[in-house]
Order: sequence, then structure tokens, then C-alpha cells
Amino acid sequence: MEKTMMKTTIAVAAATAVAVSVSGVIWYQKVNRKREGNGKLARAEEILVELQRTCASPLERLRQLADAMVVEMHAGLALEGGSRLKMLLSYVDSLPTGDEEGLFYGLDLGGTNFRVLRVQLGGKEKRIVDREAKEISIPPHIMVGSSGELFGFIASELAKFVATEGDKFQVFDGRQRELGFTFSFPVRQSSIASGTLIKWTKGFSIEDAVGADVVAELTAAMDKQGLDMRVAALINDTVGTLAGGRYYDEDVTVAVILGTGTNAAYVERASNIPKWHGLLPKSGEMVINMEWGNFKSSHLPITEFDRALDEDSLNPGEQIYEKLISGMYLGDIVRRVLLKMAEEAELFGDTVPSKLRAPFILRSHDISSMHHDISPDLEVVAAKLKENIGVIDSSFETRKMVVQVCDIITRRAAQLAAAGIAGVLKKLGKDPSSKSNHKRVVAIDGALFEHNTVFRNCLERSLTQVLGEEVCPFTLKRANDGSGIGAALIAASHSQYNSLGEL
Ligand code: BGC
Repeated sequence: MEKTMMKTTIAVAAATAVAVSVSGVIWYQKVNRKREGNGKLARAEEILVELQRTCASPLERLRQLADAMVVEMHAGLALEGGSRLKMLLSYVDSLPTGDEEGLFYGLDLGGTNFRVLRVQLGGKEKRIVDREAKEISIPPHIMVGSSGELFGFIASELAKFVATEGDKFQVFDGRQRELGFTFSFPVRQSSIASGTLIKWTKGFSIEDAVGADVVAELTAAMDKQGLDMRVAALINDTVGTLAGGRYYDEDVTVAVILGTGTNAAYVERASNIPKWHGLLPKSGEMVINMEWGNFKSSHLPITEFDRALDEDSLNPGEQIYEKLISGMYLGDIVRRVLLKMAEEAELFGDTVPSKLRAPFILRSHDISSMHHDISPDLEVVAAKLKENIGVIDSSFETRKMVVQVCDIITRRAAQLAAAGIAGVLKKLGKDPSSKSNHKRVVAIDGALFEHNTVFRNCLERSLTQVLGEEVCPFTLKRANDGSGIGAALIAASHSQYNSLGEL
């Protein structure tokens, strides 16, 4: 009996010893993992702090950037090739007044979709009587194919759209239909309805179109479709936005696009354009397409992620300002930061999600939804991480870090955009002929400004801070669909029939 008891006691003691040692290992492993986890967390935090530091855009830096923008504007106006800012002449020397009448078509090409639209303009009283539009996505292979394919595709879609024109749209008897062509890439224009493509941006790369007259290409493609329509105006989307804005508000003098790409246009006094050697326009003014996406300055806060994005892009060394600001790139900057955090700090666990290595897997609307997630558990962030990069289970800490990365990148973009607008307003403000207390309205279009509230608020606040009391009062105004309506309006004001005195 004693023996049995002893055996049992020994067995229990042994079992307890095993248990203690097992739980000791578990305890040890837990502590160790926590220490390791803390190490990883600390590394992730380090990356975040470094990102914050390199992206920082304090007021002083934004003011320097605004001043650098003014200097570059002058240089680009002085001489062809005088600056990275092309400061392109648009040949638009008068903006819509509201008197425009008749049926006009618009074609808007500038991103992964293009739009065709028709507008029936009813003059000052009735304004836009009717409008119809259709959006068509461009198959990716066409964005990097040949010029013939691109314009052939566009013209065939336009022809289909024209064929659906109903009775509520009326072209004046005996007249040809006219079209305003918004082509949102850098174009050197030689008249209101001709211009050669300087280079592609925003993911397009069609070699044989560079240097070609895009109106001639479009006209040839329309002829092939048997479409009897004349291109009355070739404009940039910023110029269309300016025209669309001015149609409703005569104080609109600047237009900015903050969407897939970014750019600005404004009304300049013709006498301030030394590189313009033609006759001075009657209005004494000329709309300038700045092509500010190509702005570059030593004051820009550029990080290792931006440099890598630029090197991997279709246009390395080009459009540096655009690559820091616009919707096409913001998601990919965030992806690159998260990839580093995944590799060096196991942000998403011990394996790096393979999808995170895929360029452009995160789009700007994805980072905007994550950034605006107000649910207590950051559920939207969790869902987006799952949907976009295949992270099934993310911790709350991880989600918070993802939001912080989105925040840093979005705010930097908004602040830099504000510095650019401040530069344009300063340039206009310095013009001795500008009326001292005149209010300037900046029309802004593009999804980034329209749909991303953090971006919009941050831009507005930064702009006010950067400018202080320096220039005349200004307001920012959302311009919806400026580029489409604007094209039709400029086609109307440059109609071949205007000389007949009917407008
Ligand atoms: C183009 C501009 C355009 C802007 C906004 C840029 O990439 O170079 O011409 O206005 O995008 O669409």
C-alpha cells in the first residue's frame, strides 16, 4: 500500500514536474514571442517615424515651393524650354460667356476611361438645355499599342454615340456637327484645333503618337468611320475646367485637376508671355496650360519610396510633382511603404503577402476608404487588406499603422498641391494690372479633391496658411465635369460658323 502510494506520489510529482517544465517552455516562448513581437512592432514604428520625417512639409517648405513655382512659371513663359513647366499656349483667348448656342459634341480622353458627350446650348437664358454622355473604358492593350488603334477605337465609339442622337438635339440646318476634343496630355499647340503630343503621362505609352498632330489623327480615324464631324477645338482638361467654371462664374481664373493626374491652367495677360511671338489676341489674354505635373524642386520632400516608384515608372525622371500628388500614384506609394513594413517588421505576419509585390494593386480609392474608416475595429481597413492583398487576419495594431501610412501620404499630397495653387495665385497677385481687391476663384476637378475629404480639407487649410494675407481673396470651387462641358463650350466659341455672325 505504502509502495503504491509512494509510486503514485512519485508519478504525480513527475507529472507535475513535466507540466511545470512544459508550461515553463510555453511561458518562455510567449515572453520571447512578445519581445520579438515588440521588436517587430518597434521596427514598424521606426519605418513610420522615418516616413513622417521624410514626408514632412512644414509651412516654410510649402512657401519655398510656392515661390519656386512662381519662378518656374516666369521661366516657362519667357522661353520655349525655359523651365520644366512647359507653360503651354492653349490658343484659347476668350472663355465662354453664356451666349453659346447650338449642338456641340465633346470627347474627353485623359485616363483609363474616355467620355463622349453632346450638349444642346440654349444661350444666356436657357444655358445647357440638354446633355447626354457615355463613358467607355479603354482596354489596357490600347493604352500601350499604336496611334491608329487608339484613335480608331475612339472614333468608332464616337460614331456609335452619334448614331444614337435623338430629336431633342438639333444641329443648325446645313451645318456640320462640331466637336471639342479634350486631350489631357502635354500638347504643343499651333492653333486652337491642332497640336502635337509632347509626351505621354498617366500610364499611356504609344510611341508612334508622340510628335503626331492628335487632331489630324482623330480626324483621319473619324473619316474612316464615315463620321461627318469637325474638330473645332483641342484643349487640355484644365482648360476645359476653366471654361466650364467661367461659364457659370466670371471670377474663375484658375483651374486645377487633382485626379489620376494633376495639372493647372490659368488666364495670363498676353503681354506677360515673352515667348509668344504671334499677334496679341483681341482680349489681351491667353489661357496657359502649365503642365505643372512636371514641376521639380529641391524643396520637394522625396522619399526612398518615391524614388523607387519613379524608377519603375513608364516615364522615369518625369512628372515628379504629379507622382507625389495624383491619384494614379498615391496607392502605389502606400503599397511600397507597407511592403517594407511587411518585409522588415512582419506587419502582416511571418510571410510577406505576395500580392503586396504587385505594382498598383492599391488604388487611390482604396487608400481613401481605409483612411476614412471610422469603425471602432477599423473593419474597412481589414476588408480592404483582405480584398486587395489577401491578408485574411490583421491585428488592430496593423490596421492602425496602415491608416497612419495612408494619412502621411495623403496629407503630403494635399499640402504640396496647396503649395502649387499658392504659387499660381501669387503669380497672378503680383500682376500689376490685377485689381487690388478682386476675388479669384479656383475651379478644381478630379476624384481626389471631390471624394477624399481628408485631402480636400487639408488642401484648403494649407492653402490659407501658405498664402496668409499675401494675395487677393480666393475661393476654391468644385467643378464637376468641367473637361467635358468645357470642350463643348470652347468648340461653340470657336465654331467655324461664328464668323457668320450667328452666335
Ligand atoms: C497631364 C496633363 C493633364 C493632367 C490631369 C497630366 O498627367 O500631363 O495634361 O492635365 O494629367 O489630367
